[in-house]
Amino acid sequence: MNGRPLAIWVVDDDASVRWVLDRALTNEGMETRTFESADQLFDALRKDRPDVLISDVKMPGMDGLEALGKITADGHAFPIIIITAHADLDSAVAAYRGGAFEYLPKPFDVDEAVALVRRAARVGPRRSGGQVEAERAVPTMLGRAPAMQEVFRTIGRLARSSMTVLITGESGTGKELVARALHEHSPRAQKPFIALNTTAIAAELLESELFGHERGAFTGADSRRIGRFEQADGGTLFLDEIGDMSPALQTRLLRVLAEGEFYRVGGQMPIRVDVRVIAATNQDLAEAVKDGRFREDLFHRLNVIHIETPPLRERREDIPLLMDHYLREAARELRIEPKRLTPDAQAQLVAFDWPGNVRQLVNACRRLTVTAPGAEIRPEDIPADLGGRSGVRAGTSDWSLRLSRWAEGALQDGTGKPLLETALPEFEKVLITTALAHARGHRQDAARLLGWGRNTLARKIREHRLD
Ligand SMILES: Nc1ncnc2c1ncn2[C@@H]1O[C@H](COP(=O)(O)OP(=O)(O)OP(=O)(O)O)[C@@H](O)[C@H]1O
Ligand SMILES: [Mg+2]
Repeated sequence: MNGRPLAIWVVDDDASVRWVLDRALTNEGMETRTFESADQLFDALRKDRPDVLISDVKMPGMDGLEALGKITADGHAFPIIIITAHADLDSAVAAYRGGAFEYLPKPFDVDEAVALVRRAARVGPRRSGGQVEAERAVPTMLGRAPAMQEVFRTIGRLARSSMTVLITGESGTGKELVARALHEHSPRAQKPFIALNTTAIAAELLESELFGHERGAFTGADSRRIGRFEQADGGTLFLDEIGDMSPALQTRLLRVLAEGEFYRVGGQMPIRVDVRVIAATNQDLAEAVKDGRFREDLFHRLNVIHIETPPLRERREDIPLLMDHYLREAARELRIEPKRLTPDAQAQLVAFDWPGNVRQLVNACRRLTVTAPGAEIRPEDIPADLGGRSGVRAGTSDWSLRLSRWAEGALQDGTGKPLLETALPEFEKVLITTALAHARGHRQDAARLLGWGRNTLARKIREHRLD
């Protein structure tokens, strides 16, 4: 950061927390100021401001969340990290809504706190007016390319409306993200957003899924069920993969859209709902209409506003931005320092065609974070399926090949358990045990070999019960 040390302010009534943070941050070359109370903090804020503020949530006088509200209301813009004992969900949510940058549960790892401060300083203040904004729920949508700017403009233009929108684009281009953003920026934001992937549900169940059913409507219907349309009342219903809907359901959907009412399966009473429909498909619907696979009248009803999400290869200028974001995110999940791309590796990835678009890029970032052996990702670390030359160093490629076979197998077993949930702890355990063995049990040395702080290693050893 242009040579000036970062100014970090800490407000906490607990002297030991102030001391620990003060020491850790000063050690990292940052300039710290500590305050015992919110009052002291506000005094100081009249003359100066920090790059990042760390605040306890519970303090005598004004509590951290209140202080946070006041800081944002006063128009100060700097990132704030809230610390509190116990990962208490309500205060975390309140912190995010109040505009806090991050939330650090106590007891915290000093290395983790330092990494968080650095990241907060890099990213800068969160845009917030202090009012309730469920911003955190929607992942950031990134893009500087003109085609993405057009998408953002359309979302902005529609912000006060409830018009039906059809989103088209290749797989993984962010259609669902756009749908969520439309909802979050609409007058319906406080009401439900219900997403339904019509292809994920067996055709014979889809009707009851959408419209619900009455008890006894069919064999197995032993109680009444509320369908997605009713759940979404007042809010938004996102119908994904609309192009694959059966002709019978297309007809029913058209009727609901035209009349605003429907019957539950087996029901006699019409149900009225107020639902905004957003539909998405990666098919060419106009083509499907021509081929007679999709009803033309339904197409026109859905296609009131059309948003097209561009394929990644048509907005290559955004690739470095996206890689940077998702490499950081993967590093945060793995609790390691983010890996950087060498200029050559970056050029190679920018030139790659990304048939799976942003989704493929997100996965690639996770994978490269795990497989690249050093702090930098070099061209030889890029696997062949991401356009890398296949002559990867034998050890790593053999290993990642086996890992990918394992993942394939696990997916086919279909236990539904997320891959990373199984693989990450295993991955950490293997590396920790190897490093400890290599360091003959010296934790400090093992931590250095792993690239972690000693506290992180100690915590991991406890977590994985390796002690
Ligand atoms: N512009 C973007 N900025 C940041 N992340 C993005 C962007 N577009 C997509 N992503 C991310 O890429 C992944 C895929 O996005 P999403 O699920 O919205 O795509 P989709 O078009 O609905 O894909 P599919 O057709 O396969 O359902 C998600 O993790 C999403 O957060
Ligand atoms: Mg999708």
